[in-house]
Amino acid sequence: MEYLTLNNGVQMPLAGFGTFMLSGETCAGAVAAAIESGYRMIDTAEAYGNETAVGEGIRRSGVDRRELFLVTKVNFKSYEHAEQTVMQSLAALQTDYVDLLLLHWPFANYYAAWRALENLYADGRVRAIGASNFEPDQLLDLIAYNRIVPAVNQIETNLYCQRTAERGWMDKKGVAHMAYAPLGQGNRNEMYREPAVLSLAEKYGRTPAQILLRFLTQKGIAVIPRSAEPEHIRENFDLFDFALTGDELTRLSALDRREPLIGKPETPELVEFSLTW
Ligand SMILES: NC(=O)c1ccc[n+]([C@@H]2O[C@H](COP(=O)([O-])OP(=O)(O)OC[C@H]3O[C@@H](n4cnc5c(N)ncnc54)[C@H](OP(=O)(O)O)[C@@H]3O)[C@@H](O)[C@H]2O)c1
Repeated sequence: MEYLTLNNGVQMPLAGFGTFMLSGETCAGAVAAAIESGYRMIDTAEAYGNETAVGEGIRRSGVDRRELFLVTKVNFKSYEHAEQTVMQSLAALQTDYVDLLLLHWPFANYYAAWRALENLYADGRVRAIGASNFEPDQLLDLIAYNRIVPAVNQIETNLYCQRTAERGWMDKKGVAHMAYAPLGQGNRNEMYREPAVLSLAEKYGRTPAQILLRFLTQKGIAVIPRSAEPEHIRENFDLFDFALTGDELTRLSALDRREPLIGKPETPELVEFSLTW
């Protein structure tokens, strides 16, 4: 495993396990299988409604909590009472701290929530705090008007959406880059069929998914692929015994379409909701 050192000195694994859309027994089983395969970082969120199942998977794995790097996020609907919500997340996860706590979206009163996160950090309930889905201007604003610089910004990042401009700003401010949907959320199978990806998969005797994930980790981007398939869970973690060359990284970088697949949940209802807080 390779690690990133966050801006407060905390070490974060470069590859972890995502749990969006996993629930109940599938989620608990997948989390336990991931930990048994060697993953030490698990990503969840209050909004996924699966923190209890994630906690169960961790318990079932038998691995000491202190060996794990647990990430969760506060839902924007809870920003006005973030501290209380985080306590509920801790209880669901069967732990008394999280390693990284993120603001899920830059909606509603995220300044109030950030100050609650700063207090939780000061109390030792979280080892690092960060953002998710923050555009560079929102991130710079948060940094300018608060005490703690976010340790991480978790944003959609994959072959077709490489976030080079965003990364430039994050590097400048010491904010680590974590990729969500690193495999295009399974919707973009064309990513797996890119000729450059297929030829590298053949050269290194790897799967296209492994090439896509190795590409990101070699650029210093943490990845949290999700899978419910034991074979995929294993292969998505088996990334650190081969390396793409500089030329190969350049070839893959040229495939950037600067196109997020997921985008913002910008429904009129959501905007209205966030304005009424
Ligand atoms: N902060 C945010 O707003 C936000 C938003 C989205 C996601 N996230 C986080 O990021 C994590 C990852 O993103 P994601 O779950 O949206 O998408 P993803 O990890 O890019 O893609 C998951 C999909 O890829 C398939 N897959 C996984 N490994 C594969 C492999 N080796 N070969 C072929 N297919 C494979 C999975 O299917 P199988 O189950 O069949 O393997 C699943 O359909 C989430 O789980 C969540 O923790 C955060």
